[in-house]
Amino acid sequence: MKNIKLFSGTANLPLAQKVAQELGVELGKVEVIRFADTESRVWVNDDIKGKNVVLIQSICPPVDQNLVEFLLLADALSRGKPKKLIAVVPYFGYARQDKIFREGEALSSQMVARLIELAGFEKLITIHLHSLNILNFFKIPVVHLPTASVFAQALTSLKGASDWIITAPDQVAQGCVAELAKILKLTTAFLEKTRDYSQKDKPKTTGLVGKVKGKNVLMFDDLSSTGGTIVGGAKMLKENGAKKIYVALSHMVVEAAADRIIQEKSIAKLFVTDTIPQLPKKKLKVVSVAPLIARAITNSV
Ligand code: R5P
Repeated sequence: MKNIKLFSGTANLPLAQKVAQELGVELGKVEVIRFADTESRVWVNDDIKGKNVVLIQSICPPVDQNLVEFLLLADALSRGKPKKLIAVVPYFGYARQDKIFREGEALSSQMVARLIELAGFEKLITIHLHSLNILNFFKIPVVHLPTASVFAQALTSLKGASDWIITAPDQVAQGCVAELAKILKLTTAFLEKTRDYSQKDKPKTTGLVGKVKGKNVLMFDDLSSTGGTIVGGAKMLKENGAKKIYVALSHMVVEAAADRIIQEKSIAKLFVTDTIPQLPKKKLKVVSVAPLIARAITNSV
């Protein structure tokens, strides 16, 4: 199998195991320990010399801890003289800080991109970035995998799905919504949302462009961290006469947001991927991105 050695950090081992299974390989041996002062120490206990080495790690909560662990693992792996070192970052944390919104802020997405390059990776594979601006921050090649095909496969078999309106919960999500709508041959609508950057995590849905009256609607977005965007969107869709509301999210980042979305009565079902580990919940359906990642790895070595 193309001399691939797959390693994983601790952020999302279940997904790494599924990818290993898809590729027909065993996960490489690593040890990650955490000291009393919270520093981590990593150890790669495997022979990787001359091999195509792939490290999989989502930069999900606890974000800073998983990011540092990822960088330390990359350093340890690059010292083992692999033929090629590839990063798979299913969820790219800090992606929402892809521009300077207010003078004096950090360009955090670019900083993370620089760290990934500095750690010695020659290629990055990542999934549904919040903003494609981030691709410009890299000098190494980046394989960007949208999730539209994964969701399309999960949704086509659902009763009545051929009559849904696919809706973007904000302006940024219009691109991925158009992609999913094209595959499913459905029409679209979009919601308008504003944010007050002096306040933390307080999105406000302000309007709807398109008609949803009497229709079942699927809201599709890259991620949810507080659930505010989706719950605000669902309320606006209901006010405008939508029937059932379904939600698809590539990255369900914070468990409390999943709970908040599920508790919203107007939402019939929440579809998410496993870029971030998920606990089973009523109304929650997890679709795996493991086959998508495995194909991208095979094409990259
Ligand atoms: C922002 O534009 C993103 O695409 C999401 O819509 C947003 O980050 C979701 O965050 P929350 O769940 O906190 O509303």
